Amino acid sequence: MTRKILVTSALPYANGPLHIGHLVEYLQTDIWVRFQKLCGNECLYFCADDAHGTPIMISARNQGTTPEELIERMHAEHQKDFDDFLVRFDNYHSTHSQENRHFAELIFTRLNEAGSITKRKIEQAYCGKCDMSLPDRYIRGVCPHCGAEDQYGDSCEVCGATYQPIDLVNAGCAVCGQKPVVRDSEHYFFKLADYEKQLKELFGQGYIPPSAENKLDEWFSAGLKDWDISRDGPYFGFRIPGEDNKFFYVWLDAPIGYMASAQNYCDKHGLDFDAIWNSGDYEVYHFIGKDIMYFHALFWPAMLMGAQFRPANKLFVHGFLTVNGEKMSKSRGTFIKARTYLNHFQAEYLRYYYACKLTGGIDDLDLSTGDFLAKANSDLVGKFANLASRSGQMLIKKLDGQLGRLDDKGKALLNELTSAREQIVEHYESLNYAAAVRVINSLADSANRFVENNAPWTTIKTDPEGTRAMLTAVLNAVRVLSIYLSPVLPEFAGKVHTLLNIRQQRIDDVDKHLQEHKIGKFVRLFERIEQEQIDAMIDESKEVQSDAAAEQSEEPTGPKEAIAPEITIDDFAKVDLRIAKIVEAKPVEGADKLLSLTLDLGGLKKHVLAGIAKAYEPEKLLGRSVVCVANLKPRKMKFGVSEGMILASGPGGSDIHLLSVDSGAKTGQRVK
Ligand code: 2FM
Ligand code: ZN
Repeated sequence: MTRKILVTSALPYANGPLHIGHLVEYLQTDIWVRFQKLCGNECLYFCADDAHGTPIMISARNQGTTPEELIERMHAEHQKDFDDFLVRFDNYHSTHSQENRHFAELIFTRLNEAGSITKRKIEQAYCGKCDMSLPDRYIRGVCPHCGAEDQYGDSCEVCGATYQPIDLVNAGCAVCGQKPVVRDSEHYFFKLADYEKQLKELFGQGYIPPSAENKLDEWFSAGLKDWDISRDGPYFGFRIPGEDNKFFYVWLDAPIGYMASAQNYCDKHGLDFDAIWNSGDYEVYHFIGKDIMYFHALFWPAMLMGAQFRPANKLFVHGFLTVNGEKMSKSRGTFIKARTYLNHFQAEYLRYYYACKLTGGIDDLDLSTGDFLAKANSDLVGKFANLASRSGQMLIKKLDGQLGRLDDKGKALLNELTSAREQIVEHYESLNYAAAVRVINSLADSANRFVENNAPWTTIKTDPEGTRAMLTAVLNAVRVLSIYLSPVLPEFAGKVHTLLNIRQQRIDDVDKHLQEHKIGKFVRLFERIEQEQIDAMIDESKEVQSDAAAEQSEEPTGPKEAIAPEITIDDFAKVDLRIAKIVEAKPVEGADKLLSLTLDLGGLKKHVLAGIAKAYEPEKLLGRSVVCVANLKPRKMKFGVSEGMILASGPGGSDIHLLSVDSGAKTGQRVK
């Protein structure tokens, strides 16, 4: 029977680019959605940008733009990244949308009517200079317990103590440093404890995965506390109905964004939202990381139940990504943006690698760069691509591309492959992609052994028809493997379709063997990857470290991330800044962000690779004076050596502005 399923992934914050840590979840979800579709099920996949909150408001201020402009730009960037990673949402929306405002107000009103909202005064920190209330993580000061400097407003990273922001010694606003004042403010709270019984019933029905269940006792024994769902303005979010200067806290309307995206999809396709979300006809699943369990396990279903909406059937929870056994790090170059990865590799290498590592559990997952290289070359190239290209090429070149009939040996091979179907389906269904890929690999080993044992390159000379039967079996094996792999490797599967001259396949097609069929044309499948490519990706990640959004959460790290350690004037004097004239500017083949510039520093010429291609046409730069760091040690980059750096400001992409130079400035002159 066809199932109807609605799936969501957590909404990425709209103030920063996606990175390979985010992709664990989107690839895990996309693989599952594609698998459901492969099985003939209806599976709708919804997501959106999480567009509200203090960090977005501050990022926009810092960039001299509006939150609306910032989130629009990020929306386009995120969509492009998802597209290029082959993540196919049925709808990708935004929490800053009229559908989301509608549901946020509706849910709030219904919860209020149900008596689940209460109001009370709280004391909160306020920065007069920034004119905003300060979330705990936007206050820094000395820990009142151990005296450690530069600690957050809620807890000390040195001694682990937790406290109120007003207890911090010498507290300062994390944005501007000014001492915050304490203000009284009336806030709205959601009475979570009212839902304890309903939540326990929901958990009894399997809402939480077993791997996360040990959290439950902890939460319930700590007691379910009221949740502050309002924030004072200025705040980028939805104004609370009936209030002048109070807004819904970003985490209130973030999960509501799942509904908003579904509603937006329904409106576009003439469908009824209630039939999808509320009727019970659809199974509903949220894919999330373990860090946001509390929100999705407690607040979110309680809000839904209190507002007479159906909670999801289940949460699928995954762990974090480490790279080479450690937390992703900007200084090590392992904080790799989605786009940086794509500058060096096609998406399917990472899709495959994550599939090999994802077991459906909550444990962290490690991306070992050595293992990444080995898996790409030994499995994708060595097993799957080789099998297809060797046998496909031989059939096309020597036997007119015409498949024959299967003989007994071939049938036996295919029988081995097709009888693994149920096992593979079960592994995918339970999110144990690692096990699915292991089974598929062992089937590919059998098919490769079949080729080795039958040696078609020898038999072709003496027994062309026998060889045709053999290649018919091998190419059918390729077809079956590509069906099994298609949730992970949709492009590979598409190329196999071109090679075999067939349409898109479903899981039921595994037994429908191709015989007496003319195959299509040869297509390259996977290329080997080299260590140098990995090094170049890591290098590029190091270069862009200062603009990588390491922290995007509503609870940001503040200027500890944004401002580098203090330097003296003498340190600064070591930087030799010169006025330079651009005498040559041209694109760099294969690097869509870089321009290759030749600079004249008053006789001395320097060649610089600058990441400004999205912002400037090369020909418009000719003759322009810029400021150049003239004594920067030459750096070997993927596309050549860069002998300096030119100064520019802006967040990146097309929004980069070269530092302008007075028209009287002389080429080569030192800037002091
Ligand atoms: O943690 C995060 O990245 C949040 N933006 C996730 C929100 S998921 C849902 F609640 F919207
Ligand atoms: Zn301030």
